[in-house]
Amino acid sequence: MIVAIDGPAGSGKSTVARAIAKRCGLTYLDTGAMYRSVTAECLRQGIDPSDDEAATRVAQGIRIVFGTSPDGQTVSANGRDVTAEIRTPEVDRNVSAVSAIPAVREAMVAIQRTYGETGDVVAEGRDIGTVVFPQADVKVFLTADPKARALRRAVQREGGDVAKDANATADAEEVKKILEDLERRDQLDSTRKTAPLKPAEDSHHIDSSSMTVDQVVRAICALDPKLEERLDA
Ligand code: DC
Repeated sequence: MIVAIDGPAGSGKSTVARAIAKRCGLTYLDTGAMYRSVTAECLRQGIDPSDDEAATRVAQGIRIVFGTSPDGQTVSANGRDVTAEIRTPEVDRNVSAVSAIPAVREAMVAIQRTYGETGDVVAEGRDIGTVVFPQADVKVFLTADPKARALRRAVQREGGDVAKDANATADAEEVKKILEDLERRDQLDSTRKTAPLKPAEDSHHIDSSSMTVDQVVRAICALDPKLEERLDA
């Protein structure tokens, strides 16, 4: 069983994919964390993220390992814990350039497909339903109003979670900055030549702006009887 969840930054993909993984017994694959890890490693090595050849070498040699901690998922790159580093504004600013490099994508897609071979996966990203797993059993294109997406990210940065506290607020300046970054990234991610952010033709569109995580999880599971059977089983 493969579930593909694509959509723009901050649409709630990670929260929803993690919840589906847990409640349906699937492996969670965060492909954005992989592009972020390559970007963090480039920055650490002093490589210009738009230097295609150097970034490709990093992507082809990188060893990314996902783990778990009481706080959630951990990520290590070449043996170094990069869980916090891959979420910094510096990585946010540079990840679209790195992920637009075709050979970087080729290297990441090859790793992502090995997860699919192991069986039950819920993968989230930008090209899961179109490129990585076009044969996925369930394909979802998850969107949300840009302001809702920026607020979610800002609250998350301040240590909160709008999924748990619907009234959570964040610093207005910070929300504005995040909104600008999200819109810039969406524009770059959806206009790049290779595997741009776009819905697969057979994907189901869900707008999560005014839905709870549980409502989105249920809506996705309702798309496939086999998946629905696994929910909380
Ligand atoms: O989902 P995220 O914000 O962590 O993703 C970070 C960046 O990685 C995003 O701006 C685009 C890129 N990305 C991609 O190109 N393809 C994917 N499958 C996942 C992420």
